[in-house]
Amino acid sequence: MATCEGAGTAYRMRTMSVLDVVKSRRSIRVYQDRPVPEEAIGDLIEAIRWAPSAGNLQSRKFYFVFPQDRRFALAGAAGNPGLAARMKKAFKTAVGWDPLSAAPLVIVACLDRRIAERYGERGERLYAIQDVAASLMNMMLVAHDRGLGTVWIGSFDEDAVAKALDLPGHLRPVALVPVGYPGQVPAPPQRMAREQIVELVR
Ligand SMILES: Cc1cc2nc3c(=O)[nH]c(=O)nc-3n(C[C@H](O)[C@H](O)[C@H](O)COP(=O)(O)O)c2cc1C
Repeated sequence: MATCEGAGTAYRMRTMSVLDVVKSRRSIRVYQDRPVPEEAIGDLIEAIRWAPSAGNLQSRKFYFVFPQDRRFALAGAAGNPGLAARMKKAFKTAVGWDPLSAAPLVIVACLDRRIAERYGERGERLYAIQDVAASLMNMMLVAHDRGLGTVWIGSFDEDAVAKALDLPGHLRPVALVPVGYPGQVPAPPQRMAREQIVELVR
């Protein structure tokens, strides 16, 4: 890939426009058994760091989880809490069909209540979640640009995730995101029509 200098930093020239990256990203739930390169991990961290945040407070914290036993624990914390669903989940985890156990890396995205409280109730209930979401979306797009797949997992038991990582009380897990090379890329799910989702007020 070609490089050019900008503001003292070497930037890699893209071949895809940002909009191409946005539109071609898919939620990946099947992964190859292949590690994420260290260089790509560094890029994901930068994408997380440079996202906007309310008042630049950055009320967020991210855990990059690599060990298989921890990823299995996270897989156990995700999804439907019913007994049948949990048994199905345990089977999928054991055979590597669960994205959280199959991907070589899982990012646990948390909001930081201690930082967010500077903006009171709105800080914790609204801004901190948006701070986390902005970082995650940046990260998922950079991952896709580097050929990596991700899926945003919002359905999980917060206490079980907190226990799996021994999270301090001021961190609330908001999303789990497996990261790895895609094993299967699904067809794009439908989007609402432009006029349904946007009202142009001119
Ligand atoms: C807040 C949020 C929560 C989500 N939770 C889950 C989840 O628990 N499990 C899952 O498989 N996908 C989850 N997804 C992924 C969506 O299903 C996916 O983004 C949507 O179907 C559109 O597909 P695409 O990402 O390929 O465009 C979540 C996405 C978001 C933004």
